Amino acid sequence: MEKINLIATTTFGLEACVKREVIKLGFSDVKTFDGRVEFTGDEADIAKANLWLRFASKVLIKVGEYKATTFDQLFEGAKALDWGEWITEDGKFTVTGKSVKSTLFSVPDCQAIVKKAVVEKLKMKYNVDWFDETGADYTIQVALLNDVATLTIDTTGGGLHKRGYRETAMVAPLKETLAAAMVDLSYWKRDRILLDPLCGSGTIPIEAALIAKNIAPGLNRKFASEEWERIDKSIWKQARIAAYKAIDHEFTPVIYASDMDEEAIEVARENAIKAGVDDCIEFSVKPCQEVKLIGDYGCMITNPPYGERIGELKEVEKLYRDMGELMRTNPTWSAYVITSMEYFESLFGRKADAKRKLFNGRIKIDYYQFFGPKPSNNRK
Ligand SMILES: C[S@@+](CC[C@H](N)C(=O)[O-])C[C@H]1O[C@@H](n2cnc3c(N)ncnc32)[C@H](O)[C@@H]1O
Repeated sequence: MEKINLIATTTFGLEACVKREVIKLGFSDVKTFDGRVEFTGDEADIAKANLWLRFASKVLIKVGEYKATTFDQLFEGAKALDWGEWITEDGKFTVTGKSVKSTLFSVPDCQAIVKKAVVEKLKMKYNVDWFDETGADYTIQVALLNDVATLTIDTTGGGLHKRGYRETAMVAPLKETLAAAMVDLSYWKRDRILLDPLCGSGTIPIEAALIAKNIAPGLNRKFASEEWERIDKSIWKQARIAAYKAIDHEFTPVIYASDMDEEAIEVARENAIKAGVDDCIEFSVKPCQEVKLIGDYGCMITNPPYGERIGELKEVEKLYRDMGELMRTNPTWSAYVITSMEYFESLFGRKADAKRKLFNGRIKIDYYQFFGPKPSNNRK
């Protein structure tokens, strides 16, 4: 059977994390580009990728890719593709678009042309003049980059960061995919203590617990392609059963999460219950200044406020100094912090051992990593 070309889209800076997880899931023909990892698979792999990818944003089917510098080329190229392979006669389809460094820069025009081409192609396939569009949703995207049009269908629906556990969030919540990537990019392993002393709605601790227990991040939600005729319902059922079987029920990590905001901790606790990991996280209401580092070789992974809101700067500068003080109370610990503040290291009182550029939404941030010593093998 012909392989399906798939794309896992990523936010800037997370390509390597997504590539690693795509390989770990056993997918073939893996290639990495800016903002995406391409691979091939079958229908079952679409279900598996959606259920298991922790750091990717979406899983798309790459229907075709071709050069297009005129609207004619865009139309003919789109019409030549086999849309009926995926879209049923009653399918409801919308076309989204983007254009970067390309001759065809009017995105609404590109969308309208691709929609027309798809309609023409489907009319020929189903031998009808009109589509009611009452069935499953298919979101097509036309993405132009350097005059190359990539046409895809979105298998995911709402982004993969929507895990289904965080209906309520506090101020400036992290995307779940970025929180999981922060954990992945650290030296934290599930047998080490994890602490987030500024946990807000609990995203980092919850994502760490999901990783520790090998819980598939998409287990609690639905995906657009679950409604598609081409992917049999039994495929999704099997993929979900396999994911349930993979959960490590025997292991409970030690994770501490605190915040000075009582309401945030209430929300975080509820989220952890929904995610099924409340037994893994000890929540408490306390200011960071009162947090103690319990045990040795732990990892603090956290997303503090960045001091960008009016009137907050002095407080945040003090908080960063206090965080540095806290880490100096036990040199066996490691610290991992994201912030957009450029002089963070001078406030924290230490130069980072490693730094990585990432984006939190549209905000450019650095992921500062301060390594403690490796845990000794004979520790209890
Ligand atoms: C950017 S938010 C964290 C968001 C969180 N990662 C999430 O996904 O929801 C920063 C958090 O730090 C908390 N905070 C600020 N200053 C604090 C302090 N001195 N002690 C404890 N918590 C503090 C705020 O209440 C807020 O919840």
